[in-house]
Amino acid sequence: MGSFCSEESDLIKGMDAMVRRPLTKTSLTAVFLLVLAIGLFLCSRDYMIAGNSRQNINPKTPENSRSTTKTSQLIFPLNCSLGNRSRTCPANYYPSTKFLTGSNDSSPVPSPSCPDHFRWIHEDLSVWRETGITKELVMNARPMADFRLVILNGKVYVQTYRKAFQSRDTFTLWGILQLLRRYPGKVPDLELMFDCSDRPSIRKAVNNNPALFRYCGDDSSVEIVFPDWSFWGWPEINIKPWEALSNELERGSKRKSWMEKEPYSHWKGNPYVNPKRNDLLRCNVSEKQDWNARVYAQDWGHEERQGFKHSDLGSQCTHRYKIYLEGVGWSVSEKYIMACESMTLLVKPRFYDFFSRGLMPLQHYWPIKDHDMCPSLKFAVDWGNTHQQQAEAIAKAGSSLILQDLKMDYVYDYMFHALNQYAKLLRYKPTVPDGAVEICSESIGCPIEGLMRKFLDDSLVEGFVDSNPCTMPPPYDPASFQVFLQRKDEAIKKVEALEKEHRERDVVEKH
Ligand SMILES: *[C@@H]1O[C@H](CO)[C@@H](O)[C@H](O)[C@H]1NC(C)=O
Ligand SMILES: *[C@@H]1O[C@H](CO)[C@@H](O)[C@H](O)[C@H]1NC(C)=O
Ligand SMILES: *[C@@H]1O[C@H](CO)[C@@H](O)[C@H](O)[C@H]1NC(C)=O
Ligand SMILES: *[C@@H]1O[C@H](CO)[C@@H](O)[C@H](O)[C@H]1NC(C)=O
Repeated sequence: MGSFCSEESDLIKGMDAMVRRPLTKTSLTAVFLLVLAIGLFLCSRDYMIAGNSRQNINPKTPENSRSTTKTSQLIFPLNCSLGNRSRTCPANYYPSTKFLTGSNDSSPVPSPSCPDHFRWIHEDLSVWRETGITKELVMNARPMADFRLVILNGKVYVQTYRKAFQSRDTFTLWGILQLLRRYPGKVPDLELMFDCSDRPSIRKAVNNNPALFRYCGDDSSVEIVFPDWSFWGWPEINIKPWEALSNELERGSKRKSWMEKEPYSHWKGNPYVNPKRNDLLRCNVSEKQDWNARVYAQDWGHEERQGFKHSDLGSQCTHRYKIYLEGVGWSVSEKYIMACESMTLLVKPRFYDFFSRGLMPLQHYWPIKDHDMCPSLKFAVDWGNTHQQQAEAIAKAGSSLILQDLKMDYVYDYMFHALNQYAKLLRYKPTVPDGAVEICSESIGCPIEGLMRKFLDDSLVEGFVDSNPCTMPPPYDPASFQVFLQRKDEAIKKVEALEKEHRERDVVEKH
């Protein structure tokens, strides 16, 4: 559902930010009914017949389930035999630690180095590098947090402060639980606060910054950035877990070669969440003007009534250029757009998520100014159509970065390292807080039915990985950090200069 989904999602995010309570309820009723209908259908097909064990009846297609990392032979399915309302967690998933060869520090094979965006973990934590993180700094983040999470000896305890929007919290907790199934015995004891909302909330101070995890940050905030819920699925708008979805996008983007795609830029979405998106609508082709942009406002209500029929994101990889413009905060659509093997025209963002800071303009995308966008978009397309090899190379580099560096193996490794580095900074030994409950995959998954359950099942980590996470790259030293930022800046300036030159030439030619 390509742009569709992401944009609808942005609409919902918009509502989240603007009129959280009243609107979400009414608008979601329809979605809920739909999900329920799909859910009942799925239930009658698979889950009911199968009792509660999905192991034999709903096998993942090899394509969906196999990552490149070697997982153990042992499969630990979700064990719902204690009943679908049971909140009890099994004493131990893994009968014996003798399986855990990878957890042994004397493990002979060193892991390959992590992708570059992992370096930002150091940057996110740098404000506490000298002082460490005290209990007080964790507790100071409480007013902003949706929940508090404690990991002790591989068990997870959660205290919920407020319900997050939609199923964001459920899928985020699910993701963390899968991380523990993937790397049993390796995730250290820790305590953290997490906020699932769209925008950063903690303004960076000289010291005593509260420690809060969330999905995005910006330059003036201090946030520990963590992969968002959509990697495990977004049932409210039918976005599948990333592992399956990225495969579909990869297939979809290959249906036509870059040359065979439409030689225009494309955007489809909900314009109402960000005034800049309204500006973008004015760049659409009309009788008077052609900025080489094909821009569509998403009638997501219609799509919803159609039962997400046009929900194949991969079928929307049809243009040589695709525009990314953030929504209320960062937009999860970025990875869907960039995976398309179209050159991404990335409108200057304010927010970053856990991987976007690693993107390099002119290597992975083409930068677009966030004001006076129309001529910039036109110039980008004209440039690409006259420098086809270079434009195609940017398209390919962008999408392979997403498909490689953002595959689930690395999403888990990122989570691992973010938590591991964070835990090293904690200056106290966490304990189970009053009012916290133990959670596990069973306690979350077993009571849930329908599409949401399907996404949980599809993203279940069935066995542990018999190797260590990738090796964390060292922090940037100040000099190379500056070089990196400078490179980025220079690439953007280069595009601006090219465009300026082009415009001036245009003016001369017209006279
Ligand atoms: C599922 O859990 C129950 C209760 O803890 C246990 O008796 C049973 O052996 C488990 N089944 C599997 C397949 O692990
Ligand atoms: C869940 O449990 C309730 C009560 O035990 C039962 O009525 C219902 O059919 C169960 N649902 C599933 C999907 O097993
Ligand atoms: C790790 O290796 C040491 C020495 O080879 C061995 O004694 C120990 O049992 C191993 N631990 C695990 C968890 O495999
Ligand atoms: C943009 O132009 C196309 C072609 O005329 C049209 O189909 C589309 O609805 C327009 N988009 C908007 C947002 O008006």
